[in-house]
Amino acid sequence: MYNKGMSKHKLIYQIYPSAVGDLNDIAALIPRIAEKLHPDYIWLNPFFESTWKDGGYDVTDYCKIEPRFGRLKDFRHLVSVAKKYNIGILIDLVINHTSSEHPWFKLSEQHDPKYKDYYIWLDRPLNWKSFFGGPAFDYSAARDEYYLHLYDSSQPDLNFNNPAVVREFRAIIDFWTREGAAGFRVDSANVLAEDNLKKGFIPGLPGFFHYYQKPQTIKVLERLFAGKKLYTIAEPVGGEFFSKRKFYELTNRAFSASFNVGTLDVADSFFSTKDKVYPVNYRRWFRKLAKWAPEPKFSMALESHDAPRSPSRFSTDPRVLAMLQFLLPSYNPCIYQGQELGTPNANLSNNIQDYPGVQSRQVYRRLRRQGKTKEQAMAIVKRISRDNARQPINWGEYITQGGQDDSVLNFYSRLIELWRNDPVVADGTLRVRKISKSGVFDFERSLGKKTYRVHLDFSCKTPSVLINDSGETLISSK
Ligand code: GLC
Repeated sequence: MYNKGMSKHKLIYQIYPSAVGDLNDIAALIPRIAEKLHPDYIWLNPFFESTWKDGGYDVTDYCKIEPRFGRLKDFRHLVSVAKKYNIGILIDLVINHTSSEHPWFKLSEQHDPKYKDYYIWLDRPLNWKSFFGGPAFDYSAARDEYYLHLYDSSQPDLNFNNPAVVREFRAIIDFWTREGAAGFRVDSANVLAEDNLKKGFIPGLPGFFHYYQKPQTIKVLERLFAGKKLYTIAEPVGGEFFSKRKFYELTNRAFSASFNVGTLDVADSFFSTKDKVYPVNYRRWFRKLAKWAPEPKFSMALESHDAPRSPSRFSTDPRVLAMLQFLLPSYNPCIYQGQELGTPNANLSNNIQDYPGVQSRQVYRRLRRQGKTKEQAMAIVKRISRDNARQPINWGEYITQGGQDDSVLNFYSRLIELWRNDPVVADGTLRVRKISKSGVFDFERSLGKKTYRVHLDFSCKTPSVLINDSGETLISSK
């Protein structure tokens, strides 16, 4: 029996529409997903009109659905199917920037009185770096000025110091809420308002460190969501630099929950050096997770559309990863489509032209510039590429794995049932017993007089297990 409604635990299931089909295809998947995982929310990556240079994170119209995904009536149908299963739909709000093809930008370039201050324009560029590599300022011949783009040059940054921009996004939020959205995932949520453009610069750093989560950004977020009953989840940038203080500031004032990409990247990559892969540092990773997991507004994710698949990334059994995500305290866990099937990295091509993602191409170019051969560069790209996780899923696996008692899918299903229904797993406090270099993570969860023991072994030499206070094994990876 599930009683999702009143719980402070919220399970999010992420769907990347481009890899699934249209909105009706997504609606048709909901009964299967609901039966096995019982999510509270489904977060959909962007499905709006876009130039698709960055997987839909380059929007040209926030209130229009890209025709290949369907129409508004299909969105309404999706919402109504989800509602039957007590699932709310979360919309991806790509708010830091638009596409350079967005009419607002075109008009801003032309100095249109209404739109001229919708973006960040300077008469001389600063030497900030963009997140994907290369300069963060580009010249617009039409306007004879430079515009800021924290990401790709096709993604100009909006100017959130302009109240008209805030009003535009309030209207967009209202639009999707009226259409039935239950909330929003807010992209690059903590770097919206720039206020340090004239005071010089720190050479070599990604652009957003120059105005990292400034008070003005928090005010903008408060204004956007004030008085609305929505589930809102932040994607803050900053990885390792995203502190607890910043987390509280964001979640206390504007969000129901927040990711922290740093809690994953700390395992094998460092912020902004995603083209270098380090051996997994279990100590760093588990210690960081132990610090963050007990936060009631923290959302733990092991995968997303921005990362390779976790069983390949960490060379381990998907069941052990699932246990890490659901047996540590976990209040807003997020499962990325196909994760529950144990999907490994895709068998990607050796030709960079076949990679749709802007990041893969940028990383490839950077590696080649550093002197790597084609083969060396492609070997790295194949391993780290976001495109690994953006491939179609074999949804027939729900039927195949559903019929196999020991499948990854049924393992997830059992684990989620424990997470929902066993008070010690749901709410027990965390006590770390052992963290080893070789990937052993032993911890306890206690509530009242009960203490459960968890043994996770990423090397898979021993079974990973959850043992209750009577010594019974409640779940085991083998
Ligand atoms: C977020 C998205 C990512 C995108 C970036 C720029 O980090 O998750 O996919 O490339 O924002 O919009």
